[in-house]
Amino acid sequence: MKVAIASDHGGLNLREEIKHLLDELEIEYDDFGCECSTSVDYPDYALPVAKKVADGKYDRGILICGTGIGMSIAANKVHGIRCALCHDVFSAKATREHNNSNILAMGERVIGPGLAREIAKAWLTTEFLGGRHENRINKISVYENSPSGE
Ligand code: RB5
Repeated sequence: MKVAIASDHGGLNLREEIKHLLDELEIEYDDFGCECSTSVDYPDYALPVAKKVADGKYDRGILICGTGIGMSIAANKVHGIRCALCHDVFSAKATREHNNSNILAMGERVIGPGLAREIAKAWLTTEFLGGRHENRINKISVYENSPSGE
């Protein structure tokens, strides 16, 4: 598995923590910033990572900002992205099993590093269940491909 990770200035410390986790899990990743010496705009980091995941250049993405909300809103605008904002382990596991989420968003100002690591670990190691859940995410893809319903 290859992961693309990025944050804005609000997620900088947690991004470093999650990179340590990826190293521990021996998961390959590339870091797409930010350098964060000043305040930056989260869409400038969410959209490139989301495009790389949507294009198949990376299997998964992890996006971190202050709340995780801006990153998840932006990422979910990209065709083919199912970005899940998770601040608990149950949701992180469930969104992999049920939604086949391909990007995880978290907020550094919402949860501590210990919980964030557990969330990311659960999300990275849980497989999609398929079956009836496949039908459901296919309905989202159909809408994405033809939102007017034609
Ligand atoms: C930056 O101050 C903050 O707005 C951003 O990190 C994020 O929380 C946006 O959703």
